[in-house]
Amino acid sequence: MTKLAIFASGNGTNAQRISEYFAHHDKVQVACIVYNRKDAFVAERARRLGVPAQYFGRKDFYENGRVLDYLRSQGIDWVILAGFLWLVPQDILDAFPGRVINIHPALLPKYGGKGMFGEHVHEAVIAHHETESGITIHIVDQHYDRGTTLFQAKCSLTAEDTPETLAAKIHELEQKHFPVVIEQTVLAQ
Ligand code: GAR
Repeated sequence: MTKLAIFASGNGTNAQRISEYFAHHDKVQVACIVYNRKDAFVAERARRLGVPAQYFGRKDFYENGRVLDYLRSQGIDWVILAGFLWLVPQDILDAFPGRVINIHPALLPKYGGKGMFGEHVHEAVIAHHETESGITIHIVDQHYDRGTTLFQAKCSLTAEDTPETLAAKIHELEQKHFPVVIEQTVLAQ
């Protein structure tokens, strides 16, 4: 079994979709969900799904190595960022070289970087009167929203679109593509 750890910070719709997609998979398994905000709704989703979930704070990520210890104890092969809003610590990147995958709700390199997450991205896209947006799935390095692109999908925008309607289009693309791209990527290794 190839074992995935999902990192999430908030609502967790992607974490849920990925967990459900691999629930009965014969080669890939979501072994755990790691979250970094105590009140993140993803913890409740994990409980309902029966996926082990573990909270870690800033020190555990950046100072005492507890997150990496936990990933090792779970036998994790790949780390999947699904709405995880902190930089991945260097010790985790070193332990999983080329094996950390992120999803970003825009067509990188546009609308990426620090502070560009969730609705902030959609607001910026609308403010710039873009005629299209989309999702980018990429390998993670030590910079926000950089690293090799694995996949992009687009949606078109009209003058009537709002951050909310754009978020719904992005959500649909994420739900459709993210698990499949993860599956193809990890099984190709
Ligand atoms: C998703 O749209 C994801 O693309 C975005 O956060 C949302 C999390 O939703 N990620 C980023 O903005 C990363 N910079 P979810 O918690 O419901 O999966």
